[in-house]
Amino acid sequence: MGLTYFKRFRMEFDLQRFSKPSSSSLADCQVRAGYDLIAYSPELLGDHAIAKFNSFRTEMDANVFPCLGRREGCLRLMREITSRSNFVPEATWLCRFRDEVSGRLLPIGTIQGLEVDGWGAIQNLGIAPEHRGKGLGSALLMNAAFGFRAAGLKKIHLEVTTDNTAAVRLYERLGFQKARVVYKAANVEGAC
Ligand SMILES: CC(C)(COP(=O)(O)OP(=O)(O)OC[C@H]1O[C@@H](n2cnc3c(N)ncnc32)[C@H](O)[C@@H]1OP(=O)(O)O)[C@@H](O)C(=O)NCCC(=O)NCCS
Repeated sequence: MGLTYFKRFRMEFDLQRFSKPSSSSLADCQVRAGYDLIAYSPELLGDHAIAKFNSFRTEMDANVFPCLGRREGCLRLMREITSRSNFVPEATWLCRFRDEVSGRLLPIGTIQGLEVDGWGAIQNLGIAPEHRGKGLGSALLMNAAFGFRAAGLKKIHLEVTTDNTAAVRLYERLGFQKARVVYKAANVEGAC
């Protein structure tokens, strides 16, 4: 084990831009057939944890935040986030996929929201690898943004590891701007 510093961008978005209909593609929150987005309710906590684990377990963020690489770590993190007094359920959404064979709705994507110092703080946007590139991550992010606005917040932020180019590109495409660089220390196996 060795201490490694991960370089991350803090990215910000002004929610008041949403009121201008022509400002972005944010009006289109539909998802393609076979998928649905569902607002947070406590009985979905376990599904969010499964979606989080499937989305992050093989990703670089599982090095930065080791709990993301473990099933029980994701469940613990979901319990921790949703029990905080600053949890924003309106900005917390689950994406599900209807499996044709079993007919079951499988949790494949998640996003959660907190309120921190008057900002909407996005937590752990993730889509399981086999469902990426279909607009689902963007749709979850948009729903979270509308949820923050419904909760009375005017601006949102998130942190993303600078090497996570797919995520940075998605955030920039939707109008987030890099505000500053921050460093997150983590103990990484194999690092020295
Ligand atoms: C980042 C992440 C959430 C993106 O999810 P996603 O569902 O693939 O995102 P989208 O499909 O909305 O956008 C990804 C790409 O698909 C394209 N796309 C969007 N809608 C599409 C559609 N309907 N059909 C085909 N492609 C589409 C987008 O143009 C985008 O292209 P880009 O790579 O040039 O930006 C996903 O890669 C992920 O879970 N990564 C691991 C976890 C992680 O690192 N999360 C970020 C933490 S800060």
